[in-house]
Amino acid sequence: MSRIRILLVGPVLGLSIGVSCSSNSTTPYSYLPRCKVTPSDPAWPSSLEWQKLNSSIGGSLLQTVPAASSCYANNPFGAPDSCGDVSYGWGYSYFHASLPESIDYPIWANNSCLPPNATGYDTSLGCHVGGYPSFIVNATTPVQIATALKWASDRNIRVVVKGTGHDLNGRSTGAFSLSIWTRHLNHLQIDNSWRVPGSNDTAQVLITGSGNNWGDAVLYSLSHNRVVTSGVDRTVGLGGFIQGGGHGPLSSTYGLAADQLLQVTVATVAGDVLVCNLSQNEDLFWALRGGGGGQYGVVTEYVLLTYPNPATLTSASISLAAANMSDYRDTTVNATWAAFAQLMSSFPDIMDQGVTGSGAAFTGDSASGILGLPGPIPGVLLSFNVWALNITSDAMNSLLGPLRTKILSNMSDPSLISVDISNSSTTTNYTDFFEAINASPSTAGQISLITSRLLGRAQLSDLAIDEVASYLQRIMVSQTEMHGTMLTIGLQGGPGPRNVPQERRGAVNPVWRNIYVHVISGGANVDTITSTPGSALHKAGEWLETNKEAVFREWAPETGSYMNEANPFNSEWKHDFYGTSYERLVRIKRQFDPTYTLSVWSGVDSDFWEYNMDSGKLCQTA
Ligand SMILES: Cc1cc2nc3c(=O)[nH]c(=O)nc-3n(C[C@H](O)[C@H](O)[C@H](O)COP(=O)(O)OP(=O)(O)OC[C@H]3O[C@@H](n4cnc5c(N)ncnc54)[C@H](O)[C@@H]3O)c2cc1C
Ligand SMILES: *[C@@H]1O[C@H](CO)[C@@H](O)[C@H](O)[C@H]1NC(C)=O
Ligand SMILES: *[C@@H]1O[C@H](CO)[C@@H](O)[C@H](O)[C@H]1NC(C)=O
Ligand SMILES: *[C@@H]1O[C@H](CO)[C@@H](O)[C@H](O)[C@H]1NC(C)=O
Ligand SMILES: *[C@@H]1O[C@H](CO)[C@@H](O)[C@H](O)[C@H]1NC(C)=O
Ligand SMILES: *[C@@H]1O[C@H](CO)[C@@H](O)[C@H](O)[C@H]1NC(C)=O
Ligand SMILES: *[C@@H]1O[C@H](CO)[C@@H](O)[C@H](O)[C@H]1NC(C)=O
Ligand SMILES: *[C@@H]1O[C@H](CO)[C@@H](O)[C@H](O)[C@H]1NC(C)=O
Ligand SMILES: *[C@@H]1O[C@H](CO)[C@@H](O)[C@H](O)[C@H]1NC(C)=O
Ligand SMILES: *[C@@H]1O[C@H](CO)[C@@H](O)[C@H](O)[C@H]1NC(C)=O
Ligand SMILES: *[C@@H]1O[C@H](CO)[C@@H](O)[C@H](O)[C@H]1NC(C)=O
Ligand SMILES: *[C@@H]1O[C@H](CO)[C@@H](O)[C@H](O)[C@H]1NC(C)=O
Ligand SMILES: *[C@@H]1O[C@H](CO)[C@@H](O)[C@H](O)[C@H]1NC(C)=O
Repeated sequence: MSRIRILLVGPVLGLSIGVSCSSNSTTPYSYLPRCKVTPSDPAWPSSLEWQKLNSSIGGSLLQTVPAASSCYANNPFGAPDSCGDVSYGWGYSYFHASLPESIDYPIWANNSCLPPNATGYDTSLGCHVGGYPSFIVNATTPVQIATALKWASDRNIRVVVKGTGHDLNGRSTGAFSLSIWTRHLNHLQIDNSWRVPGSNDTAQVLITGSGNNWGDAVLYSLSHNRVVTSGVDRTVGLGGFIQGGGHGPLSSTYGLAADQLLQVTVATVAGDVLVCNLSQNEDLFWALRGGGGGQYGVVTEYVLLTYPNPATLTSASISLAAANMSDYRDTTVNATWAAFAQLMSSFPDIMDQGVTGSGAAFTGDSASGILGLPGPIPGVLLSFNVWALNITSDAMNSLLGPLRTKILSNMSDPSLISVDISNSSTTTNYTDFFEAINASPSTAGQISLITSRLLGRAQLSDLAIDEVASYLQRIMVSQTEMHGTMLTIGLQGGPGPRNVPQERRGAVNPVWRNIYVHVISGGANVDTITSTPGSALHKAGEWLETNKEAVFREWAPETGSYMNEANPFNSEWKHDFYGTSYERLVRIKRQFDPTYTLSVWSGVDSDFWEYNMDSGKLCQTA
């Protein structure tokens, strides 16, 4: 059955889009070729055609040169950086962000061309373009991107989008694709009297290219005495972060990054550049505010609300562990879990009073590297930082003081547990705070496969402590028992997301409005020694499904998972990543990408497609 496309005609700065189309809900893409084209298909463009594309986009087309090619005999792709430089850089996020093709977690590019000491390296595999895109547009203008998108869509070629390549779920690469690299869309402008669409009001905004990272956006805003709702890490990009939601040090105060958008400019596969705001291209504007990156078009510019530089920022640390780190008795182990559960149950209350923060819990020997401990720890160990805006150190101390009592009061033997809550300290300089949370450069090059959940009062405060403790213990299992796991804990929901006015709420999974805490867990073995990356990831995904997703579903069936830090193999991804926004997103996806040119893991409507990392093919499932 064919669908009628409502074509967007008229000027590039588009008109609103009409009615949505009827579609065959079982096989919505039956009018399209079964698979996206690959270089071995006759339909793949000739090099002359690629040259024509290149000319039409101002010579910005790059042929993929895997950076680690210089580590292989005769440097087969002629990569410019020395093997030593690539090996060194491989461990850092900023290095992958600086390269057109590279991504932080190369397993998602099928480990196609690794430097010799990298995770997953196998000397017999060699260096291939493999899971990297075939060609890359080094974009500097929206029109280049729109031109390239339409060109690819007309030729049944898959398109991927890379901002920084930080994606934890492999969504910024793909075999046999044309990649749009947004790094050089990097303008920044503060406008303190920007006219709000549809009103006579003005707003204080940051107008920013989608290729900027938060380090640049935050420091630029601070140079104008304003702050933005960034992530913690300076190397993370605005592109995918904002479209997935985006949490950070200010999200529990002001809401998610997606909640701050007043306008978005996007290049579409139809070849248009659309300005989307509350009164024009509203559907797309809604989808781009939390409906997931790399799916509806390529964003070139965001207009984001800014906020006053906080007068003060007060911070403290909390740590919790067995008092005697060689005491592995059951009573002690159980006491550490109960103490951890008590702290978790206290978070919603203190967050409602303006406290936020992040930290991690560790089991087994997972903390050894980080904390320099000699062996596995008894039970669980927690290390946490909290902070709050515009409150004094005294006020912070009196908010945190009762926590210690609460944690220890219900314990049969409080001496088993050590709880350390530091005195608070206050800075008046947000720049110093941002630099401090970025003290060490963010690392890359490892395997990323995680699972996560959003937790509210129902999961943390309203259950008996024993139950909370038991869920925490179950969620922190490791496939390799001795290794233990790390649970990342972020106080990123609460009042901020809850108080965002209705008109600023886009497609962000609505469960964000009622949750407080975002936890991320790992623990699966991804065995690339005996399996290909694709099959190793799928097998590990199955282990996560049984051992983690099932527990999260039992604990928090009605919440969900933050899609930018989640398990793409989660069988309930529609519910968990998109929630009640899903059906409307499907309609918008089909309207703006009817050729399914943009494809990502667990993207909207992606259940009709399968990306096989072994063959590199992206094909319809039906
Ligand atoms: C070190 C590190 C720290 C992190 N810290 C945080 C944090 O504090 N808070 C948080 O919320 N998340 C955090 N994340 C997760 C982060 O949100 C995701 O990695 C996100 O995908 C990053 O977006 P990106 O544009 O930088 O990445 P990319 O890998 O370049 O892109 C990610 C996805 O977005 C799409 N995309 C990118 N740009 C565009 C665009 N212009 N138009 C359309 N689609 C686009 C890509 O196609 C891909 O699907 C962190 C990740 C890492 C690795
Ligand atoms: C949808 O497509 C399938 C397969 O082509 C077909 O069998 C079915 O009848 C179609 N359904 C509708 C509602 O058109
Ligand atoms: C695109 O054109 C530019 C400028 O002529 C050239 O430098 C570049 O190599 C071309 N790209 C490809 C893939 O041929
Ligand atoms: C890889 O090699 C580089 C260059 O010799 C070195 O700096 C880096 O520390 C090595 N990394 C690992 C993980 O061994
Ligand atoms: C992915 O890697 C495996 C080896 O691990 C290889 O057999 C396969 O051809 C690769 N796929 C692509 C698309 O490069
Ligand atoms: C990409 O484009 C920018 C801006 O024109 C340029 O500075 C940069 O060198 C280009 N990068 C590559 C790899 O060609
Ligand atoms: C939406 O954006 C367009 C383009 O910037 C602008 O002309 C229009 O005025 C905006 N909408 C409203 C109602 O202001
Ligand atoms: C904007 O101001 C003008 C002039 O005062 C007024 O006529 C108009 O109704 C206002 N528009 C809105 C949306 O408030
Ligand atoms: C903190 O105080 C400053 C200065 O008074 C003010 O501008 C800002 O809005 C306050 N921020 C919060 C989150 O209360
Ligand atoms: C710590 O526990 C170990 C093992 O039970 C025990 O041998 C040791 O004496 C304890 N240390 C202290 C200071 O209690
Ligand atoms: C510790 O907790 C486990 C599981 O909840 C329980 O079976 C065991 O009896 C507890 N042990 C002690 C000494 O409290
Ligand atoms: C904050 O500290 C930075 C250096 O870390 C300094 O450059 C900046 O001027 C300070 N800002 C204020 C408002 O004091
Ligand atoms: C106190 O501890 C008991 C036994 O572990 C537990 O059942 C109960 O829920 C705890 N009460 C509170 C208020 O934490």
